[in-house]
Amino acid sequence: MQIGFIGVGNMARAIIDGLLATKAVAGTDLHVHSGHLEHYQAYADKIGAHIAPDNATVVADSDVVFLAVKPQITPDVLTEISGTFASRPAYLVSMVSGFDLAALGAHLTASQPILRIMPNLNVAIAAGMTAYAPNAAASVDDQTKAVIGLLAQIGGTVALPEADFATFVGLAGSSPAFVYQFIDAMASVGVKYGLSKKVAVQIAAQAVAGSAQLVLNRDASPADLADAVASPGGTTIRGMLAMQAAGFQNAVVAGLDATIAMDKGE
Ligand SMILES: NC(=O)c1ccc[n+]([C@@H]2O[C@H](COP(=O)([O-])OP(=O)(O)OC[C@H]3O[C@@H](n4cnc5c(N)ncnc54)[C@H](OP(=O)(O)O)[C@@H]3O)[C@@H](O)[C@H]2O)c1
Repeated sequence: MQIGFIGVGNMARAIIDGLLATKAVAGTDLHVHSGHLEHYQAYADKIGAHIAPDNATVVADSDVVFLAVKPQITPDVLTEISGTFASRPAYLVSMVSGFDLAALGAHLTASQPILRIMPNLNVAIAAGMTAYAPNAAASVDDQTKAVIGLLAQIGGTVALPEADFATFVGLAGSSPAFVYQFIDAMASVGVKYGLSKKVAVQIAAQAVAGSAQLVLNRDASPADLADAVASPGGTTIRGMLAMQAAGFQNAVVAGLDATIAMDKGE
């Protein structure tokens, strides 16, 4: 499968790095074009990708094309590539935030298969989480299965109605930043009690990673797992209640609410 990337910024590189790390694709199967050659030439050369002279050539040379540009330039890019899409059966995968299937499809033919996705940056280490929604032309397409299979190589995947994409942005797109804040806050306490920041971060990050893995491995309720750690009269329940009293849950809800509301344009 020949895979194109229009836009080679942070998210495109995270997906490419994940795919290359898992050997799901080879660098020579990739066809890329982005804004400024000087921003991505070294990266493309390093991974062995073909640098296309323009976005339309990416479409012409690829079976699957990932659209990874900022929302504000998306209409111009779609106008630029729509003619090539009309003349050959390439599959479009768009990760452009706030651009739904109807808005994407308005620039393309009705038979154009489109998969809208919302990945998070953890795909770079094959530990991402990606939501997806196909348009009508893609929903019964074997290529859709192949593309979802590709995304599954770099983390978890979930089919979601487009109406739930904003919620996904709060839970998975932006939440890595919230988790980093949590790890940093934990590490600060380690420093308060005399650990170096480096050691404190390492301990806190591993504790968070292992806790999340246990939820996934056991398919368990986080609340039940917390109860298993908190023995009666012990240190953990005292800490949990102190965190609740300090507004831990309210802070988490407020953070996600703000993110989701902004993604919805509220
Ligand atoms: N970052 C995330 O965590 C994340 C998560 C989910 C979805 N997304 C979505 O993914 C998309 C890309 O985000 P990003 O964070 O990767 O942004 P980014 O780092 O700014 O990447 C955008 C890329 O588009 C290139 N570009 C500009 N004009 C172009 C053109 N006319 N043709 C082709 N490429 C062009 C830019 O190149 P130059 O810089 O050289 O101009 C840049 O490499 C956005 O729509 C975003 O909403 C991002």
